[in-house]
Amino acid sequence: MKQRTVKIVDDATDLNYSLPVENGTVRAMDLRQIKTGPDDFGLMTYDPAFMNTASCRSAITFIDGDRGILQYRGYPIEVLAEHCSYLEVAYLLIFGELPTQAELKNWVYDITHHTMLHETTKSFMEGFRYNAHPMGMLVSTLAALSTIYPESKHVFDAANRRHQILRLIGKMPTIAAYTYRHGLGLPYVYPDNDLSYTENFMNMLWKMVEPKYQANPVLARALDILFILHADHEQNCSTNTMRCVGSAQTDPFLSSAAAAAALAGPLHGGANEAVLVMLDEIGSKDKVPAYVKKIKEGHGKLMGFGHRVYKNYDPRAKIIKWTAEQVFEVTGRNVRLDIALELERIALQDEYFIQRKLYPNVDFYSGIIYQAMGFKPELFTVLFAIPRVAGWLAQWQEMITDPEQKISRPRQVYIGENTRDFVPLAERGTAVRR
Ligand code: CMC
Repeated sequence: MKQRTVKIVDDATDLNYSLPVENGTVRAMDLRQIKTGPDDFGLMTYDPAFMNTASCRSAITFIDGDRGILQYRGYPIEVLAEHCSYLEVAYLLIFGELPTQAELKNWVYDITHHTMLHETTKSFMEGFRYNAHPMGMLVSTLAALSTIYPESKHVFDAANRRHQILRLIGKMPTIAAYTYRHGLGLPYVYPDNDLSYTENFMNMLWKMVEPKYQANPVLARALDILFILHADHEQNCSTNTMRCVGSAQTDPFLSSAAAAAALAGPLHGGANEAVLVMLDEIGSKDKVPAYVKKIKEGHGKLMGFGHRVYKNYDPRAKIIKWTAEQVFEVTGRNVRLDIALELERIALQDEYFIQRKLYPNVDFYSGIIYQAMGFKPELFTVLFAIPRVAGWLAQWQEMITDPEQKISRPRQVYIGENTRDFVPLAERGTAVRR
């Protein structure tokens, strides 16, 4: 087939250029040849917030935002959520194929045997203030693990990478549970290797004096489904951070700490906590129209609504709504669900939201489920981070092994002063500028 090209005419020089198009992209470096003269640096692209720039080639996650499609390694998210466990999906993301029965058995065994934290890490976590935010604790503890496993810096050693991947996926629930119990002043519970990934997480969260923790199977499965839905989402803010920091050949613990820090922001993973705050602020169903009016007048955003990529219903939000019904049969209905449903109903009929293609995203309903399960809003983003670590690691590994990737380092358009004459301090006057 004929290679597609785009033609550019530079009206500064009247020169013509033909740029090859591959996978719907032109290479930004191909623009450099477009110069006004030998001293010209060459044309660059300006794209704040990466609105139209592909930073990598990836075979992990596919999203069609206009049609509301999400696939991991070619498998629709709906199918994976129905048939797989989270660890099976984590394997798929990292290795590219669904595991065979034997591979899954070994994988689960290996992850289960990397759930313990070094005792000094436990003491490190005990040092946080009683009301420390769990995301701050998670970010710092992930970074601290880099000091326990210094060999993780050998990022080009495949066997070493696999070892650190097992550690990170294994230890995330342990760290998360410790942040939870720390906030409540409860003693930490050690992992129980007889239990599944989510059952063990629930054990570390909620075990009291009983000799063996029994997880409710409906809640354990619901948590597993939520983990599958959150496992990866291609080049989102935290994944981009993971790739960017990892591109400096930083070890995966420090890179994951940076990614988790990005996730903590209210426009990203912090949105699930913000949704609960918003629903509480609204208070009741009848106050929804007034709240939506306020948003349309420019006072804040409807948290849990809108997405950079989805311009249609987020497929994860659909599955979460279904999961919520299962959870509420066990826990009883969360009253905030009625406010959320009313908010969704009104927003989806409103011209402001229709025009801007704003639909509920994954964070809109997840917080309501988490709260019904007994989690405090401060922990919601940590619950997002636990499964997302599989996506971060899959993307990090893909980046590290991609010969086209180098240290991530964007260009800028400098808009500051030209070279200025220096004025000594004594000659700068006494004015106080604000
Ligand atoms: N409520 C009200 N208006 C909104 C919202 C919202 N939630 N989201 C976007 N808009 C408006 C925005 O004001 C803008 O309007 P205008 O064209 O008049 O200026 C228009 O829609 C386009 O929005 P944008 O800010 O240019 O879109 P973006 O792609 O830069 O931002 C977003 C995407 C997710 C940050 C944004 O929709 C948002 O802040 N949503 C609320 C926070 C949220 O739920 N975040 C979770 C995202 S999904 C999970 C994750 O990634 O972690």
